[in-house]
Amino acid sequence: MSSGTATMCPAWSIPGYLEVRNNHLTIDGVDAIDLVKEFNSPLFVFSEARIRHNIERLKLSATVVDRPIKFCYASKANSNMAILKAVLDAGIDVEVNSGGELFKALKVGFLPEQIIFNGTSKSDDEIDQAVIAGIYAINVDSIYEIELVEQSVERLRAKGNNVSPARITLRLVPEIGTRSHLGLQTALLTSKFGISSSEVLAAFRRAFQYPDLIHVNGIHIHVGSQTPDVEPFAQAFKSMWEHLLTIHRETGHTLEHINLGGGIPVNYLRDRSQADQLPEHERDMLGAELEPTAVLSEAMRVARESARAAGAEHLLDQVTILLEPGRSVIADAGLVLTTVRNIKTRPETGDVWLLTDAGYNIMLSMNNYKWYYHLISASRAGSTYENEYKVAGPLCDSGDVYFDIEREGRLPDYRKLPADVKPSEILALLNCGAYSLAQMFHYNGRPLPAAVLIRTNGKSDIIRRRDTYEDLIVSDLW
Ligand SMILES: Cc1ncc(COP(=O)(O)O)c(C=O)c1O
Repeated sequence: MSSGTATMCPAWSIPGYLEVRNNHLTIDGVDAIDLVKEFNSPLFVFSEARIRHNIERLKLSATVVDRPIKFCYASKANSNMAILKAVLDAGIDVEVNSGGELFKALKVGFLPEQIIFNGTSKSDDEIDQAVIAGIYAINVDSIYEIELVEQSVERLRAKGNNVSPARITLRLVPEIGTRSHLGLQTALLTSKFGISSSEVLAAFRRAFQYPDLIHVNGIHIHVGSQTPDVEPFAQAFKSMWEHLLTIHRETGHTLEHINLGGGIPVNYLRDRSQADQLPEHERDMLGAELEPTAVLSEAMRVARESARAAGAEHLLDQVTILLEPGRSVIADAGLVLTTVRNIKTRPETGDVWLLTDAGYNIMLSMNNYKWYYHLISASRAGSTYENEYKVAGPLCDSGDVYFDIEREGRLPDYRKLPADVKPSEILALLNCGAYSLAQMFHYNGRPLPAAVLIRTNGKSDIIRRRDTYEDLIVSDLW
């Protein structure tokens, strides 16, 4: 624990969680520098209290709509077992995207009833796994996949397994754009996900054909990740509601749930000192402040309006709403501590380069989406940030830099830090909890870092041990 009280509140700080004490960064009161001394660098640090806070914020939003809400944490955002356990203990359910994530969710203690399974390319084995477990919903991504689930049930029964009809939900792609990255938009007809609106009714008719094999319980859309506006959510919800209505009229079937997917954004620009160096659309997207309450109340408002007009409010009143939040649960609950390992100047340009030990092999989106993670000094967290540095990671790849190597200006060219940063100074990349640890890889033979979870009782538990060199070769056969 760090002594001293928080003395200053920089824009990036979050009272009670991310603070400055004795000029050091503290996380839930724990000194970041002490963590690196104990667990080495680079190091992921997560806060259980912040995960709980984020989940409570979601649960609070449920109180604005008078429908039951099932929150299914999108485990792709971070499926470390201790993080999954923290989410389970905080009282919400889980979404998985592969047999591996399903295995992890069951192993950590989620009940089948708490699990939904998305994915475009599920293998027979993965479907069998989900059918045997009897999960809440397999979200089917195409008309073809309906048949795969039916075959799975038949196959398993033929082998003597006493499996119930598999519960499935159909995933739609209704052509709804957002102001997020194209790679993070998933409801466009150019995206690879879901069933087109023009085929929805036929898809449901097909899915209702063999009720002894599959039970169709819902309809699903995920408009994309880091969606900054309420409108795409409302549009998506309305579209699903209207499909539900048509399906009821045309087939007599009533769906039990509408799944609005994930995508509630996180504000990566609480500190806006470098925000004006980002293109306007990136700035709006990365700095989005969107309350889940606003998303749910607007979605419900438009659906209720449509239900009233159709005289079908009784149908809406039977629906459970599902959400699949990932980023909004875990992104700001995690950060990366990294050490400056090398320094150089370029007399020709006047640049000072800081070379850290955190590369894109542990922060992939900094490279593939040019995602902005605010950078601070962990040992001089409260100092003045007026000096500019070129910052780069350790990989033997020119693209392993904290700026936009393609010169499209999607990241600031320089990072602002205190004067006279030297090798061995510890820096912190903030808001790194989502889509980072889950995407790490061993490029350049770099052992993957450790991760620590600060518990609600203030204890720092190691939740991922640092790789050894042996881990680099454990799967190689020679
Ligand atoms: C189907 C699905 N649901 C939920 C999510 C989680 O999104 P987010 O982390 O933005 O909440 C994703 C991620 O893009 C997804 O593909």
